[in-house]
Amino acid sequence: MSAAGADQRAKRILSGVQPSGLLHLGNYFGAIRQHIELQDEGEAYYFIADYHALTTVQDRTEFARMVSDVALDYLALGLDPERAVFWRQSDVPEVCELTWLLSTVTGMGLLERAHSYKDKVAKGITPRAGLFLYPVLMAADILAFRSDLVPVGKDQVQHIEMAQDMAESFHAAYGAKVFRRPEPRLATGAALVPGTDGQKMSKSYDNTIPIFGQGKPLKKSVMSIVTDSAGVDDAKDPEACNVWQIYKLVASADQAEEMAGRLRAGGYGYGDAKKALLAALDEHFGAARERRAELVADAGFVEDVLATGARRARRQARAVVGAAREAVGMAGGPVESR
Ligand code: ADP
Ligand code: TRP
Repeated sequence: MSAAGADQRAKRILSGVQPSGLLHLGNYFGAIRQHIELQDEGEAYYFIADYHALTTVQDRTEFARMVSDVALDYLALGLDPERAVFWRQSDVPEVCELTWLLSTVTGMGLLERAHSYKDKVAKGITPRAGLFLYPVLMAADILAFRSDLVPVGKDQVQHIEMAQDMAESFHAAYGAKVFRRPEPRLATGAALVPGTDGQKMSKSYDNTIPIFGQGKPLKKSVMSIVTDSAGVDDAKDPEACNVWQIYKLVASADQAEEMAGRLRAGGYGYGDAKKALLAALDEHFGAARERRAELVADAGFVEDVLATGARRARRQARAVVGAAREAVGMAGGPVESR
């Protein structure tokens, strides 16, 4: 392909989503929304990182439910299976084979420097080998599909740099260029969403507002958002108000300005702001909630989407892992495929 041709090639955008329970507004505005938008920018490849999830979940019922929940959540929030390839990681076992090939060119030191691994160990977790090898599996995910761009949160950037290093080590060891160099892509303008207690919203802090929450539990989490002690009549600073910080993400710009004006003027209480926030959440996520309920009732459709995605993804992975096998001196594929 000519250089110009190569430049015009659609970028391949790939990201994995680890199933980890109820998605919250932080996940949506920090990551998912960007994934959905990127479907318009290139070839989108998204998968449910269920092999990775085994490093934390060991209850088979909970595991299956979490995997199914992520599939439903992403499809309901706008992942379009006509435009994006969407699959379950474990349906493409070639990534495990590539994990092994990459592990043989990866220094222990590189893995020992991984922040997320070190953080977990510092928190007192007794690490298993799978947790230590987590970045190698992630590199295999990225490299098996010749990904150009990997949209992730800040905490994952080091893992992508490690994937770059592993690709280079493999190329240097075998003198063959099999992989494409991936680049991380941080969500631009992604908001750090505050939780109900004002810290970063995170499931580890028990301060989340779930995207698909409804009715009383949703109302309860919105009503629990911490505010200062200003009375109804007092003038309030919207920038310092957690309710407004969340409201501006889900309301229109005009609505956000209007609420800011009311808070500044006084005579508008935090209770009023919370009611407006609840209404805005219903408005913003109403269609996705309906869509999710339809998908729950149509399990066959969701399975079909994942099966079709897996077939497409697997074809790609087989070609790349086959090339990696050849590079190390093996036949291009396992014996029954020859
Ligand atoms: P949690 O902190 O709840 O465990 P994860 O670490 O699973 O969330 O995050 C999944 C994705 O959502 C990451 O890309 C992360 O950057 C994003 N994310 C999580 N919480 C927030 C937040 N409060 N604000 C912005 N982005 C967030
Ligand atoms: N480790 C990522 C996370 O926790 C999930 C993930 C697994 C991933 N494999 C990936 C992200 C490959 C991007 C590319 O968010």
